[in-house]
Amino acid sequence: MTPFVADPVYLNGQFLPLAEAGVSPLDRGFLYGDGVYEVIPVYSRQAFRLDEHLDRLQATLAGIKLVSPLAIADWQALIARLIAAAPWDDQSIYLQVTRGADNKRDHAFPPASVAPTVFAFASPLVTTAAAVRASGVSAITVPDLRWSRCDLKVISLLANVLARQQAVDQGCAEALLIRDGYLKEGAASNIFVVKDGVLLAPPKTQLMLPGITYEVILELAARHGQPTEVREITEAELRAADEVWMTSSTKEVLAITRLDGQPVGYGRPGPVGERMWQWYQDFKNTVMRKG
Ligand code: PDD
Repeated sequence: MTPFVADPVYLNGQFLPLAEAGVSPLDRGFLYGDGVYEVIPVYSRQAFRLDEHLDRLQATLAGIKLVSPLAIADWQALIARLIAAAPWDDQSIYLQVTRGADNKRDHAFPPASVAPTVFAFASPLVTTAAAVRASGVSAITVPDLRWSRCDLKVISLLANVLARQQAVDQGCAEALLIRDGYLKEGAASNIFVVKDGVLLAPPKTQLMLPGITYEVILELAARHGQPTEVREITEAELRAADEVWMTSSTKEVLAITRLDGQPVGYGRPGPVGERMWQWYQDFKNTVMRKG
């Protein structure tokens, strides 16, 4: 069986087997969810959009007032070493930084002498099975109960976890988050809508994670002349959509063909999404595999 986490993992300056990697139970990631993360896809051993992922990591660290424990060149070297050591050509690199472990529990930041905890590992990049892609997946809508800084990629993901589990409990792949009557994103993905041939994308605000894949989709749409509007999408528009898709570094572009038990459009992946999937595959095979 393919192991999900490659050995060695990286923890606080060391490369070591997962079984030997441990952190203090006083780590603030464990006590408070006080930390940040990134998920970076790797194609043919080339990290895709690494600069953009590291920029987003930097922005999230700044957003939670945590100084990056590593310089950009050190992040790059760490990631390169994980990629080289893992047995797969296509991978997903997970990075996590927490505010470290003090010798007591106190909500306020620990003294500067407490070093952040840095953890990273490589996994195989598991793409969606052709049969699932061909039929599309089901999703539910749920109220967006998250905080107001969803643009930060923080590890405190309880609202996302509960939303996704609600979807899984109903046999669905994703939960779409609705706040004040507007579609924001999925529990772990960005969401696009198609109506009358026009691609609609919610705008990047503090209430949505700025997905790296989201940017790629908008770039591909512009390059191929796909009419696009970046604007708020109402729940009513979502329900009347011809197509709905989810996008992320690990899911790529995946059609949502049933929403809250109702078919989306004709209940199968639509033409705009199919074209986007193909553009994405072409882009992956020509550009992403070169880094
Ligand atoms: N999640 N929105 C949310 C809430 C996410 O968690 C993710 C990704 C995205 C898509 O971002 P990107 O295109 O950069 O992967 C949008 C990752 C994959 C995860 O949590 O595992």
